[in-house]
Amino acid sequence: MRKKVFLTRTLHDFALKELRKKYQIEVHLGKIPVPQKKLRSKIKDIDGLICFPYDKINKETIDLAENLKVISTYSVGFDHIDTKHAKEKKIRVGYTPEVLTDATADLAFALLLDVLRRVSEGDRIIRDGKWKEIYGAYDYVGLDLQGKTLGILGLGRIGGTLAKRAKAFDMKIIYHNRNRISKSKEKSLGAKYVPLEKLISQSDVISIHVPHTKETDKMFGMKIFRKMKKTAFLINTSRGKVINQKELATALKKKIIAGAGLDVFEEEPVGKNNSLVKLENVVLAPHIGSSTEETRAKMAEITVKNLNLGMNEKKPIYSVGY
Ligand code: DGY
Repeated sequence: MRKKVFLTRTLHDFALKELRKKYQIEVHLGKIPVPQKKLRSKIKDIDGLICFPYDKINKETIDLAENLKVISTYSVGFDHIDTKHAKEKKIRVGYTPEVLTDATADLAFALLLDVLRRVSEGDRIIRDGKWKEIYGAYDYVGLDLQGKTLGILGLGRIGGTLAKRAKAFDMKIIYHNRNRISKSKEKSLGAKYVPLEKLISQSDVISIHVPHTKETDKMFGMKIFRKMKKTAFLINTSRGKVINQKELATALKKKIIAGAGLDVFEEEPVGKNNSLVKLENVVLAPHIGSSTEETRAKMAEITVKNLNLGMNEKKPIYSVGY
């Protein structure tokens, strides 16, 4: 009997073909994310699971698994999986960092450039037939990037790659991490370490690159917004729950901060009645950090490789702790 693999949604054809050669696979094609009831009924007797960031793989779900050897997530984030419990049950967890570093850093930079130069706002003005003022001294003015201070919270792979982009645009870079990076890395990125309070108060733009954990849950709320410069912008391509979204909407509306560029949200998808949608000083993207053809294909490749290794009782290429 071939081992069973369940996918909570479809993957690239080449990946499915590869999986079909080895396993009996079932792909969930219905509602996204897969309803918990279905996931729980499937997890019982599968050997491998391929999942996505919106699938909650919690303790109760994991406990139903009788043969599961590996959970391979098609994402760099794994906050949707109880990885600690998976480890206790000797279930390996694979994820897809590195291959999406450039794409995600590009998107963070695109949001930064867009919100500072008001590109999307201008696009809306034209589409709505409201382009009246032509080339006046004060019309549609944005801000220079050159000389502005970019504060990177979490200078890991993605944060470091964003620093390279920002350096090329002559921005000043400060960062805060739990652990300071090496002096030589700081030098090559042109990034200066500062305590968190300084990052918050000195940055013209803050870009968030921390995972969503108990410690970072709703970390960015009114208390921090009030300490930021009134002229500062906030960029988030990490996880939506790191920001208190209601308080962010208020801060943007009352101009407590100048603007934001967001790829991730507390609840996704974001509907048209969300208070952020009504604001001009925010650029919104539908969680597309890793969404380039090239990157998504590489992610599929790694997801399959991670799964294959786990199925053979081996450590995935990118493995969460086990
Ligand atoms: C991930 O892979 O976790 C990211 O959110 C994709 O943008």
